[in-house]
Amino acid sequence: MRPIRIALTKGRLEKDTVEVLERIGYDCSQLRNKGRRLILEIPGANMEVVLAKAADVITYVEHGVCDMGVVGKDTIMEQGGSFFEVADLGFGRCRFALAVRKGTDFYSGYAEKTIATKYPNVARQFFAEKSMDIRIIKIEGSVELAPLLGLSDGIVDIVETGTTLKENGLEVQEEVSPISARLIVNTASMKLRKKELEPVIASIQKAIAEKA
Ligand code: PRP
Repeated sequence: MRPIRIALTKGRLEKDTVEVLERIGYDCSQLRNKGRRLILEIPGANMEVVLAKAADVITYVEHGVCDMGVVGKDTIMEQGGSFFEVADLGFGRCRFALAVRKGTDFYSGYAEKTIATKYPNVARQFFAEKSMDIRIIKIEGSVELAPLLGLSDGIVDIVETGTTLKENGLEVQEEVSPISARLIVNTASMKLRKKELEPVIASIQKAIAEKA
């Protein structure tokens, strides 16, 4: 049988994830010196780490080619999918927020409102809960530009430090939801490889709890 495979989100969550794995005692030397390699072994643990973009972490876990994954709640909320979300890892903390040009009120007036966002499903759901019909325009990055250029009345986006908003004359009008990294597990692996996965999940949960 192939090694247990864990898919990690490349970039912002990578460092914290590697630190958790090292605290548990896994040898992450390959991950620390990965070069351009995308599949790294954890020697002595019958485990492989796969580095992927957030949305692809979910895809690989859903299809069962990876047993577990570490991915942000933002991507989970936007993409959905069928898997178990077994732990809040506590790092990668930020939030989804509705932001507008400083001093403006998204809810004023009766005209239909437009939201620009990289997360159309999150935005749609947020306004559906308020029974509001909103026009949503999908933007691929630097969403802050949209209200500045007059394309939208507001944005639904990730806010971490708030610096990007501030430096572009925008401000949070309303919180949408908190975000942090989550540990996800393929539903079939959870049953078929339970004996191998349970101790890994438990040690990750323990390492997170100890740090909190
Ligand atoms: C995210 C987000 C904001 C920024 C928020 O963008 O979309 O632009 O980070 O961070 P802050 O509150 O600490 O300033 P990201 O860097 O992921 O790139 P993007 O512009 O491609 O969305």
